[in-house]
Amino acid sequence: MNTDISKILIDKDELEKITDHIAEKINRDYADISKPLLLLIILKGSVMFAADLMKKITLPLEIEFMKVSSYGAGTKNSGEIKIHLDLTRDHLEMYNILIIEDIIDSGRTLSRLSQLLKNRNANSVKTCILLDKPSRREVPFTPDYVGRVIPDEFVVGYGLDYNEKYRNLPYVGILKPEVYS
Ligand code: IMP
Ligand code: MG
Repeated sequence: MNTDISKILIDKDELEKITDHIAEKINRDYADISKPLLLLIILKGSVMFAADLMKKITLPLEIEFMKVSSYGAGTKNSGEIKIHLDLTRDHLEMYNILIIEDIIDSGRTLSRLSQLLKNRNANSVKTCILLDKPSRREVPFTPDYVGRVIPDEFVVGYGLDYNEKYRNLPYVGILKPEVYS
């Protein structure tokens, strides 16, 4: 285990089970849709989760990326989302969009992003999140698919970062507070 991590919260085996379970649900829920499923992968934190998850989705799908942020370099929410990279596709009414995100905290990123895509007339917009910190919610938002509800701790690994580091850890772990204080 990396020495900056105080505890492994979700290990490799459990991450496997989480993606198995969510993919099963998605396969069932989207089985009868007439318009294509578009996985909208939010850079960069959800890349590992999305890669593992999509291998287990047996339906035809397409992928797109967006890069948005609500956080600066630190661990505190700046309160705004910024679009750094937008999806280039037009005619969103042709797609059932499933947003893939690493973690929901205040809920600002996802509520604004979902609204934006609905305003662009997507046929449907749902959200699939690896980690949910419900105790931190500042705007009401309930994701459609959640991997695991976690306590209010700053976590890294399996795509999630602190100052761009730790994304490559193969597990989700709690970062020692002395690393960021
Ligand atoms: P929200 O708008 O507050 O829900 O922000 C969600 C975003 O905050 C995520 O996409 C992450 O980039 C970041 N974030 C929130 N909590 C953590 C954490 O514990 N570790 C790493 N990133 C986090
Ligand atoms: Mg992030």
